[in-house]
Amino acid sequence: MDWGLKNRLSSIIKPHNNRALMLAVDHGYFLGPTERLENPKKVIAPLLKHCDSLMLTRGVQRTSVPAETDTPMVLRVSGGSSIIGDDLSQEDITVSIQDAIRLNASALAMSIFVGSKYEYQTVVNLGKLVSEAEQYGIPVLAVTAVGKELGKDARYLSLACRMAAEQGAHIVKTYYCENFEKVVESCPVPIIVAGGKKIPERDALQLTYNAVKAGAVGVDMGRNIWQSDHPVAMIKATRAIIHQNANVDQAFKMYKQLAAQDSNKKQKSKGKKPNQNKSNKPQNKSKGKKPNQNKSNKPQNKSKGKKPNQNKSNKPQNKSKGKKPNQNKSNKPQNKPEPKNN
Ligand code: 5RP
Repeated sequence: MDWGLKNRLSSIIKPHNNRALMLAVDHGYFLGPTERLENPKKVIAPLLKHCDSLMLTRGVQRTSVPAETDTPMVLRVSGGSSIIGDDLSQEDITVSIQDAIRLNASALAMSIFVGSKYEYQTVVNLGKLVSEAEQYGIPVLAVTAVGKELGKDARYLSLACRMAAEQGAHIVKTYYCENFEKVVESCPVPIIVAGGKKIPERDALQLTYNAVKAGAVGVDMGRNIWQSDHPVAMIKATRAIIHQNANVDQAFKMYKQLAAQDSNKKQKSKGKKPNQNKSNKPQNKSKGKKPNQNKSNKPQNKSKGKKPNQNKSNKPQNKSKGKKPNQNKSNKPQNKPEPKNN
């Protein structure tokens, strides 16, 4: 592996414990102003220092992330279809390698839609992207997208992850499922797990714990962090599982404490600053009541309710109880102190 590629990868998956906490804020590329991500700049600002890397589009990077940050950027370079269009799987590469370099991307991300109408196009695009990105020492993260007619069990996800790795992806992002160890075992590159739709905080922490225990390097989580009422508390608790080997009880306790502090702080500042709303415009407190901002991000049209796996597999899985976490592939030590932002 070339030095540059190795160096970029090690900024995303921390070499001291082979773990990664990626914050996903790329949802707008097909969902538009997703609930609680309407203003990416405001969402990203308090969370940026708590993640190892940030997954986003070039538009959000340029408009909503300070260029002075030292957090690595995982740049989504695929897109083309929206949640209300004909077929979400019809994606192409939308960002040139030159622009990715200008943006100082630490990795490029794109989705493949295995089993969909556009399987061929997206898989071939992945191969081409890897060839191009490797010329510049930039790793590629392949996202195994799920869709209405695609499964989300270990058999399907093993197929999709393995295909991504065979095309040369350096990291594969996928969904957690029962028997997730099988998915990890049959994928020769690191796997990172998406959070999926918003679930209760404890369940999301359980998902994180289970994913890591099954051998994932960590999570690339979005909605379960910034759709929480206490995003900073949630990212810190998630971080404790990934980087400090906290168990679910410890992480959830941490979340609750930080959330209570956050509520107190907000309450105090509310009391101190009445009538700060100069414009007297109504404050949109009824989050979630905007049209088409449904919490689950489920498609509103043809794929209504049929996106598999945004739900089921995110339930806490207790099958691997008793197994120690840190079954990561590298066998690197897991207990070294974690240097950042705790
Ligand atoms: C969509 C993506 C998202 O980044 C991914 O789904 C992660 O976000 P979340 O935790 O909200 O599922 O890649 O294709």
